[in-house]
Amino acid sequence: MTLEQAKKKLSAVGQEHLLRYWDELDEEQRSYLLEQIEELDTDLLQLVQDESGETPRGKLEPLGALTIDEIQKNRHRYESVGIQTLKERRVGAVLLAGGQGTRLGLDKPKGMLNVGVERELYLFGQLIQNMLHVVDKTGKWIPLFIMTSEKNHKDTVDFFEEKGYFGYERKYVYFFVQKMAPSVGYDGKIFMEEKYKISSSPNGNGGWFISLEKAGLLDKISEMGVEWLNVFSVDNVLQKIADPVFVGAVIENGCVCGSKVVAKADPNERVGVLCLEDGKPSIVEYYEMTDEMIHSRDEEGKLLYNYGVILNYLFNVEVLTRIMNQNLPNHIVEKKIPYINDNAEYVKPEEPNGYKFETLVLDMIHMMDNCLSFEVIRDREFAPIKNATGVDSLESARELMKKNGIEF
Ligand code: UTP
Repeated sequence: MTLEQAKKKLSAVGQEHLLRYWDELDEEQRSYLLEQIEELDTDLLQLVQDESGETPRGKLEPLGALTIDEIQKNRHRYESVGIQTLKERRVGAVLLAGGQGTRLGLDKPKGMLNVGVERELYLFGQLIQNMLHVVDKTGKWIPLFIMTSEKNHKDTVDFFEEKGYFGYERKYVYFFVQKMAPSVGYDGKIFMEEKYKISSSPNGNGGWFISLEKAGLLDKISEMGVEWLNVFSVDNVLQKIADPVFVGAVIENGCVCGSKVVAKADPNERVGVLCLEDGKPSIVEYYEMTDEMIHSRDEEGKLLYNYGVILNYLFNVEVLTRIMNQNLPNHIVEKKIPYINDNAEYVKPEEPNGYKFETLVLDMIHMMDNCLSFEVIRDREFAPIKNATGVDSLESARELMKKNGIEF
């Protein structure tokens, strides 16, 4: 892209300020800046202008779950189907580790968080430990695909190297890098990180499959005969990965997708709830629910919108490949975004100062024809670390680790 073309592209969307330091830049910096402008997805900026910022929802209806009791009745059957599938190496795992953990205020990948007290116990290490239980059971390594971002890729790979992959067979671990999206102020102007660098952040966890494909890993997946991918987040210490009972239940129920869910702790809990939207599976965020939806109950007194998602999904690879090119909605998310101010000084804000753009893995659920809602015991499988203190924090996760007999 030439300077003239860049000027034209930017002036069409009121972002000419990205070139304000042009005269001060050396050749290398100039070509780097032009490259970023060329790649810039200016359609995203429209979202900030759009009052609601979100696509309107279709007709929402409650969706029940395969309950813990029902699972228990068929546990043996599900487990043996799952184990057989894992033995045939038809299941891979995808660790979403491209996020920035801004709520925790870390400057390292979240997986490098030490959750131990008496001993070192890193989130990455604990997740690998959880996978090793299944590997021990089946005698087969599960291919593990780890998504990082430009911001944390090197730190993540170096850490796995330094820790000897926490005992996992490194030949079954594949890293891939997700895409970035620009960050903007409340006025819709894109921030700059340096005089030649547009401020950008990982574009959300929804792009994982496209990024996997861009990295050439879909070939690997088909070569290995992997038919199912279990996608999970980095910050749930109790995360069960490639759980044979879950895998078997999805297959036995003839579904193309499954989601682990927990019964809500109280009606107002801030979780996304699995439901139906226009007859297809979908997830409704807590802030999108009306009071009626929040409080309605069935004849037995159970909440109708009862089952919260915990970011643990099983997807069928063939179906993912078919829908890969469908666009996911973009969400605007308020965050603290470092930037250079008018005096070109670097500022790290204490409070949110603008928006990032993200696509979300939960929106992929709506692209599936069906999704098995699979209830799990909350205290055994859900200990997310999102905040520094209080709800979903290191403190609350440690309590749950203690309950589950994990030494830390
Ligand atoms: P969260 O939505 O909790 O985001 O991610 P986060 O970045 O970890 O934390 P905050 O919101 O900035 O405090 C849920 C999961 O999705 C991954 C995260 O690493 C986590 O496992 N994720 C999130 C990505 O892989 N890429 C992204 O762009 C965003």
